[in-house]
Amino acid sequence: MDRKTPSLQICKNTDALAALAADFVAGCAREAIRQRGRYTLVLSGGATPEKTHGLLAQPLRMAAGDWRKTHIFFGDERFVPPEDARSNFGMARRTLLGRVPVPLSQVFPIPTDRKSAAESAVAYAGELARFFPSEAAHNVPPRFDLILLGLGEDGHTASLFPGSPALDVEDAWVAWSPPGVLPPPVDRITLTYPVLNAARHVAFLVTGENKAAALRDVLEGHATRDIRPAAGVRPTNGTITWFVDEGAARC
Ligand code: 6PG
Repeated sequence: MDRKTPSLQICKNTDALAALAADFVAGCAREAIRQRGRYTLVLSGGATPEKTHGLLAQPLRMAAGDWRKTHIFFGDERFVPPEDARSNFGMARRTLLGRVPVPLSQVFPIPTDRKSAAESAVAYAGELARFFPSEAAHNVPPRFDLILLGLGEDGHTASLFPGSPALDVEDAWVAWSPPGVLPPPVDRITLTYPVLNAARHVAFLVTGENKAAALRDVLEGHATRDIRPAAGVRPTNGTITWFVDEGAARC
C-alpha cells in the first residue's frame, strides 16, 4: 500500500464497515507477528469501534495464538473510572478484551486513578516508555503497528480537540486535554501527534452524516489541524486508511 496516499474505503453501512475494519486489524496482526513476533495495537474510544470489536472477538478472524502475541494500548481516555459507562477501556473490555485470549499483562489501559488527567498522562507516558525503552532512551516516538482512530463531528480525533493545548504537544507521547465541546464533558488523556504520526498503520473508522463535513474538510485538505485536528494525522512513514460509511461520505 502506498505510504503517502490515504486509502478511502466507502462502505454501504456500518456492518460492512465493521467487517472490513475487522479484517484490516487482523491483517495488520498477521503482518506484525510475521515480521516482528508481536502486534502493538492502539484502540480508539467512542461508539463506532463497538461493531468492529464484536467481529474481532469472533475466533475466525484472529487466531488465539495471534491474540497471545498482541499488546493493546489506548489512543485516549476520559478521566473517569473504568467502571464508568463513559470509559473507553470499559467499552473495549465489554466488547472485545473480555472475549479474546489476550493476556491481561498485555493490555495497557490509560490510568484514570490519579489526582488529575495531567498526572494520568504522565503515568501513561511512563508505561509506554517502559514498553518501548529504546525509543524512550533515544527520545523518538514509539512506532505502533496499528492505531485505530475515530472522527468527531468537529474534526477531533482521539482527544485532540480544536483549540486544545494538546494539539501543540510535540515533546511528550501523552498529554491531557480539557473537555472538547462534544460530550462527555470530562477531562481527557490522549496520545499526541508525534505518536500518532509514527505509526506503521493508522485506520480511521467514521460513520454518520454528522461527520460528513469534517471528513470532507480533512480529506480535501480544507482545514488546518487547529480547526480539524484529524487533519494533523499524517503518518511520517506509515499508511492511513479511512473506513467510512455512505452517510459520512455524503458531502
Ligand atoms: C473518544 C474518542 C473520540 C471518538 C470520536 C468519535 O474518547 O470519544 O476517542 O475521538 O473516536 O469522538 O466518537 P464516536 O465513534 O462515538 O462517534
